[in-house]
Amino acid sequence: MFIAGNWKMNGTVAEAEALAQALVDGLPEGAPATAVFPPALHLGAVGKVLEGSKIFMGGQDCSGAEKGAHTGDISVSMLADMGARGVIVGHSERRTDHGESDADVLAKVKAGLSAGLGVVLCVGETLEERDSGRAEAVVREQLGGSLPTDFPAGSVVIAYEPVWAIGTGKVATLSDIAAMHGMIRSWLQDNRPEIAKTFILYGGSVKASNAAEIFATDEVGGALVGGASLKSDDFLGIIAAAM
Ligand code: 13P
Repeated sequence: MFIAGNWKMNGTVAEAEALAQALVDGLPEGAPATAVFPPALHLGAVGKVLEGSKIFMGGQDCSGAEKGAHTGDISVSMLADMGARGVIVGHSERRTDHGESDADVLAKVKAGLSAGLGVVLCVGETLEERDSGRAEAVVREQLGGSLPTDFPAGSVVIAYEPVWAIGTGKVATLSDIAAMHGMIRSWLQDNRPEIAKTFILYGGSVKASNAAEIFATDEVGGALVGGASLKSDDFLGIIAAAM
């Protein structure tokens, strides 16, 4: 299992440090692989708190370009330089807020891999796409458009986050989660065998109270958690549910 907390655009440096410290202090022996994705400006401070702990840290996004004239963007080498070991790419909030296409996301996946970062690739359909019966086709298209055809094994994790379940309190049904994760697994086996065994995370309103049943669902390898990762007790509760 792999439990990841996406802190999104929240908090101050002091709050990020306190949250990271509470996770370091509270992480139980034998916890699953755990990662946090603080705002880029907080990576340096959080990295210091996490030093020597078992908690990985990553960035929430990266540029697809190596360096240069890209005002406001953050390169993968900058993330690595701040101690990040991974990066989230293709989050639906990036696709919506910044108009990122699958081709943009592909460039980011390649950039992350080239810097030796573990990449968490987010895919997921909107409510309209689900209601029109296109959920699986949309996710297949995102996978095909944003996963390179050559990469080192084990370096990409997939996060299935139905857009309508993010931050809404609505969770996909367990049978919908199982169906989508099963589809993703078989798509990987057929199309990207190098990462066929990678973790497939579920994301979208995961909480300590619903995590156990989600983790017991076929092909769920953990969670990408937003809101509930901002409180240490809630996030530690999700980690406990994975043990
Ligand atoms: P919530 O857990 O707040 O629904 O967010 C999920 C998410 O977008 C994680 O990347």
